[in-house]
Amino acid sequence: MLIDETFQPSDIEHLVDVENATASRQIFCDPGIWRMELQRIFTRTWLFVGHASEIPKAGDYVTRLMGNDPVILVRDAGGEIRVLHNSCTHRGSLVCRGTSGNARGFTCPYHGWVFDNSGAIRATAMDDALYKQHTDYHHFDLKRARVGTYGDLIFATWNDDAISLDDYLGDARWYLDIMFHRTPEGMEVLGAPHRWVSTNNWKLGPMNFGADGPHAVKVHGPITDATFAGGNARQMLRDALIESPSVSMGNGHNGIWTQAPEAFPPFLGWEPALIELFQKTLKPEQLQLMQRAVASVSTIFPNFSWVQGPASFEPATKMPTTFLAIRNWQPIAHDRTEIWNWFMVEKEASEAFKEEAKRMGIRTFSAGGTFDQDDAEAWHSIQRGVEGEIGRTLDVSFEMALAYRDRALVDFPGPGTAYPSNYAEVTEFDVLVEWQRYMTCKIDWAR
Ligand code: FES
Ligand code: FE
Repeated sequence: MLIDETFQPSDIEHLVDVENATASRQIFCDPGIWRMELQRIFTRTWLFVGHASEIPKAGDYVTRLMGNDPVILVRDAGGEIRVLHNSCTHRGSLVCRGTSGNARGFTCPYHGWVFDNSGAIRATAMDDALYKQHTDYHHFDLKRARVGTYGDLIFATWNDDAISLDDYLGDARWYLDIMFHRTPEGMEVLGAPHRWVSTNNWKLGPMNFGADGPHAVKVHGPITDATFAGGNARQMLRDALIESPSVSMGNGHNGIWTQAPEAFPPFLGWEPALIELFQKTLKPEQLQLMQRAVASVSTIFPNFSWVQGPASFEPATKMPTTFLAIRNWQPIAHDRTEIWNWFMVEKEASEAFKEEAKRMGIRTFSAGGTFDQDDAEAWHSIQRGVEGEIGRTLDVSFEMALAYRDRALVDFPGPGTAYPSNYAEVTEFDVLVEWQRYMTCKIDWAR
């Protein structure tokens, strides 16, 4: 039976069993649930839409998605960052067909209505005959989403009642600072996002990045052997994953910090000038976590994630370079996800480092990246396995969480709740626990 759009919170409560750390497979294969997610999550939470370095000048814009709504992220003529619904207020056409550019405004291709880059209506067809005289002209402005920024990270929400972005990010800000505010000038994007469609439910990505330690050695084993020198790379990775912390940052934001074995040098994969800037910019506790991190993988609920790690494809002769990928998991259907993936780098990095960081990112986490190829196949096979008539009646398991959820680390340097292993499954499951809170309307400001 499909759950239809009228279902009540009580109809969905049982789909995530918090106590036993399991979830119904139905949440990955039901079009009615996907539709309800768009309403109950994607129109209510803060959503990541871009980085300030993508729109540095007045008039710069990029087009994005908020749930299944197209939007324009634009810096208006006065320098203010706007997120405009990309749908003409006349009959609904997209007003911007491009993916990026610089524009004083947007002219609808259907009947030619004109909007400036703040979203304000400037002209309609036959203005003098009707619109300017007989209506409140500005009710034709493009719908504007509420915008929030944390440093250069730009988020937006349709929800006027949503808590502030600062409160929404909460403890995650301490970790976001390690990733995006670790040098005085901050980060910049390395080009436009790559986009591709994977044949799976959108939640598999945020869960995996929230994060799934155990899959790394199995799914990514061959590429691990190829990109780390020495014959015991997989074993070293497995040991590191088992012994490294996973962190619940609160509000559904979760991730892992995989710590390098003792034999590895600190700050593996960075150029020395950047390391000096990290040491000047970050707090000692943040440096403690970052300097030994060979992988940082996290999700900001619901669909923004990052992955960072050092990579070399000639491990015998070339030291690794650290890449940082950020991504949105766009829920385009119950069984389709459009992945938007950017690369970021410190503004102060040398051109050579930037080039290599981008190259390592593209070769690992992108449409053609080795790691994404691995994951795409695994996630496609999950979708096939869960959506049959028998498959959807069963559960998925996160029961390792039962062994770890009461074992919070007491000496962890960061905020939130940390657990002693990337294998703990607590934080990955926590993404679904938060999902359930939205879907059952348990969050006051998101009702
Ligand atoms: Fe845009 Fe008519 S739909 S001008
Ligand atoms: Fe993976």
